[in-house]
Amino acid sequence: MIDFQNILNTIVEEAKSEKNKGVVASYIPELAKADKNKFGVSLLDNKGKKYSAGNSNEQFSIQSISKVLSLSMAFKILGDDLWHRVGVEPSGDPYNHLSLLEMENGIPRNPLINAGAIVIADVLISQLKDPKKEFLKYVQQIANDSSITFDKSVAVSEKKTGFRNYAAANLIKSFGNLHNDVDEVLDFYFHQCSLIMSCQQLVDTFYLFVNRGNCLQNHAYLSLQQVKRINAIMLTSGFYDEAGEFAFKVGLPGKSGVGGGIVAILPDKFCLATWSPGLNKKGNSKLGMQALEKFTTRSNLSIF
Ligand code: DON
Repeated sequence: MIDFQNILNTIVEEAKSEKNKGVVASYIPELAKADKNKFGVSLLDNKGKKYSAGNSNEQFSIQSISKVLSLSMAFKILGDDLWHRVGVEPSGDPYNHLSLLEMENGIPRNPLINAGAIVIADVLISQLKDPKKEFLKYVQQIANDSSITFDKSVAVSEKKTGFRNYAAANLIKSFGNLHNDVDEVLDFYFHQCSLIMSCQQLVDTFYLFVNRGNCLQNHAYLSLQQVKRINAIMLTSGFYDEAGEFAFKVGLPGKSGVGGGIVAILPDKFCLATWSPGLNKKGNSKLGMQALEKFTTRSNLSIF
């Protein structure tokens, strides 16, 4: 029997004493307010038992982690037709890169880079009557937590400085792969990225990717085939140009956000979330990645 609590406690102690904690994202001004001395971790196992340590109950901006949630909702609605609009190959580029988009005629490489998530936002706007409200409700339902909400100040802050996302959306629109108005699509996208959650809420939310498409309350949201595909995309593209390194060191599908959160899963076994606001050069949480590597090494649990 592995002592998860002991592993998490040690990881928090080590993270707190680490001198180089990375750099907090500041290109979205609101995110610059985060305290890089915070560190939280939570694990939810396949029996529904939760283990936590550090600042696991403190909420942060989940940013790109939300791309997995919007993808899952769009995939649930459109099924495999979704793949006519967005690819499933890793990009090997930073999350906000534009050059591949130009070369590949406005079809983003995958749904987890910004361009791909913008196309997913467009799909949801076309499919839903009240997109922001219905998306938020979907997230609250899969997490079984009606308190989950957007942080409007982060959404507004990102809108003011989201020049590259405007560039991406306009480029996609010029190729005919954006059906709605650029401002409307980005308003949805900025709100989705502004979702705030704690590590404890993140593991609840992502439990359905561990549990074959069934959420914590055992309601079925996705088929096993759909979960298989989303987990594959997390493994190959969840960390942008660091996806190879994450698979190499951690060995789990996962997703990061520039708010410093990371969520990773081992199908049928557990969901694990870390939060440490300081980022490495690739825009992924520095201490979060280290913590996840330590966890899979010390527990001997990974998909490999
Ligand atoms: O669009 C952006 O730049 C942010 N809303 C999200 C970027 C992000 O989280 C990248 N992940 N590491």
